[in-house]
Amino acid sequence: MVLKNKFDFVMRNIQMVDLKSQYEKIKCEIDPEITKVIESSAFINGPAVRDFQTELERYLGVKHVIPCANGTDALQVSMMALGLKPGDEVITTSFTFIATAEVIALLGLTPVVVDVNPDTFNIDPKCIRKAITSKTKAIVPVHLFGQCAEMEEIIKIAEEHKLFIIEDACQAIGADYYFDDGTHKKAGTITDVGCTSFFPSKNLGCFGDGGAIFTNDDALADDLRVIVNHGMKLRYYHDKIGVNSRLDSIQAAVLKVKLRYLDEYAKSRRLAADFYDKSFKDHPKLLTPFRYQKSSHVFHQYTLVTKDIDRFAMQDYLQKNGIPAMIYYPVALHMQKAYIDPRYKEGDFPVTEMLCKSVISLPMHTELDEEQLNFITQTVLDFVE
Ligand SMILES: Cc1ncc(COP(=O)(O)O)c(C=O)c1O
Repeated sequence: MVLKNKFDFVMRNIQMVDLKSQYEKIKCEIDPEITKVIESSAFINGPAVRDFQTELERYLGVKHVIPCANGTDALQVSMMALGLKPGDEVITTSFTFIATAEVIALLGLTPVVVDVNPDTFNIDPKCIRKAITSKTKAIVPVHLFGQCAEMEEIIKIAEEHKLFIIEDACQAIGADYYFDDGTHKKAGTITDVGCTSFFPSKNLGCFGDGGAIFTNDDALADDLRVIVNHGMKLRYYHDKIGVNSRLDSIQAAVLKVKLRYLDEYAKSRRLAADFYDKSFKDHPKLLTPFRYQKSSHVFHQYTLVTKDIDRFAMQDYLQKNGIPAMIYYPVALHMQKAYIDPRYKEGDFPVTEMLCKSVISLPMHTELDEEQLNFITQTVLDFVE
């Protein structure tokens, strides 16, 4: 499809995430790395995986990166390595992608859902405090849409109640969290263990599925490495019950190249977000994303909260004009069919429920140019005014 903008110029197609244009710019670096893996036939656990692991450890300033098959596995394996057992309660946010709660339920743990902060959309530490019982063993904050949760408050709660923290940093790789003492850490490396996803559309995405776990704890890192590899340290000797969760060498080769661009990519996303912010500033029907002063924002998503707007009609109008827009997320965790629980009912998490009814995410990626951004913002404003 060829789009024409308001001024009748032909414009590149607008995508939610434009991976093709991104690839074209780094094709000359990526293709030889992929070819190298193919020619070596070291498809599993080859040197590319080790190289990427080392480079990511250096970038994040973390002692151990344990690559695995996807972000969902990263969360599951972390919970297994921490020794969480059926019946243990794990507190997480009601406003997230389902994977966060899915693994808790799959392991027979009890997901305890709490509401979010209306500004950041991240788990509300006040709600965490109220949800703690004698069975609570862990908290899973999600750094949603690319901005860190209120980690210092969450760490304080965890220390008081001796709870593990597993950071879901699947949407926030590269974001920095700033502590009150002036130090900072990368998302996913702030607490006991952090998880990320390299799903293609993520800020650091590969050409298939991929994920990783981060920790500074040597003993935990050993356990994580054993569990992702069928529970074995020595081949065919299985000390633990594990899973098969590997990052393959081709994905690692791609990620090794893209990691060099991660900060530049975050900058492009921020510029696009600044453009959107400026265009929608003070609009009575559009609330732009809040910037939390203790975190940088890597804008995995640019999400507006709409007021007095039929956002499905807006999505439709944008689509007809060649602009994709998505609703992340239309249903709160406690209202998902598979997760219906007598402990929860509609109205229990008012902030999440309000967000599920009012958010809409606009195209956000590294390749948006001014012409496209102009067209997107003008089309949104045409609809809302
Ligand atoms: C917040 C969050 N958690 C977990 C995941 C799961 O990652 P993956 O799709 O790599 O399994 C995702 C990915 O979409 C996510 O956004």
